[in-house]
Amino acid sequence: DPVLRDLAAAKGVYYGTAVTASKLTGTYAAVTAGQFDSVTPGNEMKWGSVEPVRGDFRWSGADAVVDFAEANGQKVRGHTLVWHSQLPSWVENGSWTAESLRTVMTDHIATEAGRYKGRIHHWDVVNEAFEEDGTRRPSVFQRVVGDGYIADAFRAARAADPAAKLYLNDYNVEGINAKSDAMYALVRSLKAQGVPIDGVGLQAHLIVGQVPSTLQANIKRFSDLGVDVAVTELDIRMRLPATEAKLAQQKADFKAVTQACVAVARCTGVTVWGFTDSDSWIPDFFPGEGAATPYDEGFRPKPAYHGIAEAL
Ligand code: XIL
Repeated sequence: DPVLRDLAAAKGVYYGTAVTASKLTGTYAAVTAGQFDSVTPGNEMKWGSVEPVRGDFRWSGADAVVDFAEANGQKVRGHTLVWHSQLPSWVENGSWTAESLRTVMTDHIATEAGRYKGRIHHWDVVNEAFEEDGTRRPSVFQRVVGDGYIADAFRAARAADPAAKLYLNDYNVEGINAKSDAMYALVRSLKAQGVPIDGVGLQAHLIVGQVPSTLQANIKRFSDLGVDVAVTELDIRMRLPATEAKLAQQKADFKAVTQACVAVARCTGVTVWGFTDSDSWIPDFFPGEGAATPYDEGFRPKPAYHGIAEAL
């Protein structure tokens, strides 16, 4: 089989995968290291994973992913510093003032981004800040700190790890729509204020046959604002059972997304959200759907894998 990381490097992009730290042995580790030149911890760097109880830190999963990446010449996308979900309850349900929550948030960023300083190529600084209509999601940060929490988070991340590229990441912003318009307006305004934002992450949790037709134009408009763009969590789900026709459409879809990134100079790379159907969140979160990744449950490449290779 072709080696995705080599094909990607020749095109000037990276090809990455989300990983589960506890699975990094045997064939899973061999494919991760052999095919991909970037890894994202699927859960291990989330606030609820690293500090479930205030002041009680659990770094072993995150450390394992970073160590694995360095041993295999891979980049790490840090995911994620500020997010409404998988947040420890002490943060979610604390009795905060705007000032005290802002400080807890920026201290968290300083601690986590500081721990891995110099070892992370991209940080998803803020994840999923918007609602579908383009209004701000009413997370505890939005409700208590207010609109400025995003700028505060990026400034804290830059101070903690000046070499990391700092990303705003979200889903359903792959095509041009109300949500991506809001993200575009925010990025423009952050840039105008001198807030240190380097990139926009398009998660790309897509459905077979529904790659947005405006994907490449959307990547281009963000890059024209002076930021990089990455596809950060690509998976393309289908209603089960998988059929040959659905897998063929999925191949075309993975190819199209990869081509859209390769076609725009400031698109830095693509990460799949799990490379194997045995390590995908889709069946748990979308009942009746699955088969969303480029390898089957037995680590055999699917047509989608060949679609990626054809685009690189
Ligand atoms: C998912 C993980 O893959 C699951 O293991 C976990 O139970 C829930 O979160 N958007 C994101 C990711 O930014 O962090 C999510 O990851 C998938 C949706």
